[in-house]
Amino acid sequence: MGNQKPSPFSRYHDDPRAGGREGTVHGEIFGSSNASGRSNEYSWEVFSLKEMLHATNNFNENNKLGEGGFGTVYWGRTTAGEEIAVKRLKMITAKTEMEFALEVEVLGRVRHKNLLGLRGYYAGGSERLIINQYMPNQSLLNYLHDNVVADVHLNWPMRMRIAVGSAEGIAYLHHEANPHIIHRDIKASNILLDSKFRPKVADFGFAKLMPEGVSHLTTRVKGTLGYLAPEYAMWGKVSEGCDVYSFGILLLEIVSGRKPITKLADGKKHDILQWACPLIQKEKWQQLADERMVGLVDVAQLRCVVALALRCTDGSPENRPTMREVVSELREGLGLGLEKKRFTAATAAAKGGKLWEEEEEDMTDASNYYTSRAKDVITR
Ligand SMILES: Nc1ncnc2c1ncn2[C@@H]1O[C@H](COP(=O)(O)OP(=O)(O)OP(=O)(O)O)[C@@H](O)[C@H]1O
Ligand SMILES: [Mg+2]
Repeated sequence: MGNQKPSPFSRYHDDPRAGGREGTVHGEIFGSSNASGRSNEYSWEVFSLKEMLHATNNFNENNKLGEGGFGTVYWGRTTAGEEIAVKRLKMITAKTEMEFALEVEVLGRVRHKNLLGLRGYYAGGSERLIINQYMPNQSLLNYLHDNVVADVHLNWPMRMRIAVGSAEGIAYLHHEANPHIIHRDIKASNILLDSKFRPKVADFGFAKLMPEGVSHLTTRVKGTLGYLAPEYAMWGKVSEGCDVYSFGILLLEIVSGRKPITKLADGKKHDILQWACPLIQKEKWQQLADERMVGLVDVAQLRCVVALALRCTDGSPENRPTMREVVSELREGLGLGLEKKRFTAATAAAKGGKLWEEEEEDMTDASNYYTSRAKDVITR
């Protein structure tokens, strides 16, 4: 019997299936496997093809979660009952196999609450699979534009928490991961959301694994149109600043619900900066905020976030803030403070409406954290 993909938002409580794991090697990064050798969240594995075929029901069409530039992503379940997302890469040459395995090992060592955990990989023959944690709420992209999932609408606090968490994940890649990692493809579809809508940046370091020419939208330059820093798009100059630029575009997208590039009726393309700048100059905050946003929008916070987005998207990389600065400016602008504190909804109200609660916070109920602190609000 094969594995069937759950519908979005459904909960699976199947008993894990017992069974052998032929050909499976466990990698212990932080020595955290349990007694049976079954890895937990802090380790990766080299999976067998047999297990991945079983997990995904032979890469069944019904298990398909989405398709990107590098391959197709399938939902699956391991023999231990863990839900996984299997990215089946296309166009891999035998020459890159060793490099691929080494790079995946590096990525497997990177752990942060806002980075998607790598569960493992498979490399053999012409098949290359990247196995990641499954994120039940899929990508931020699904909630920002026309294709809103079910009845879920992100309110202002949820959007801001997603922005802060994503920034923290990228800042970790730039400043703390060893070696430092430049993502090169920051965009809404690479921000995945867990069961509590907490953001996890996906596909970090991934572009580096791929041979030149594989990317869907560009040839030599990897990344996605609309998010590319000008110096990268024109001269292929890569730096942390490229990610900062893309993050600035993402911030505007989160606030406005607009795509980075919109096609006008006459066929011309209009980017989000061309659209936002005149509105910012005229202080038309109401028009900048996504009209599908439910509840209140704090205008003071919106102004801060938009001003930061403009600095992130400065044409000169040297004028852009670092991701560390982005995190602290965002937290400050949103009244979150530099130190992460743990507040319940009740204490948040008592302490003047600070929105943040670390780690265990449930994003599905973020509206509870919003208080009447802001005098200047846009009411939906
Ligand atoms: N770990 C995951 N859990 C749940 N859904 C996922 C996961 N990884 C990817 N997806 C879904 O699959 C889709 C395709 O992902 P994929 O990374 O292949 O493409 P992309 O992000 O659109 O573009 P790119 O190839 O540039 O990363 C995503 O938009 C997301 O909806
Ligand atoms: Mg992706």
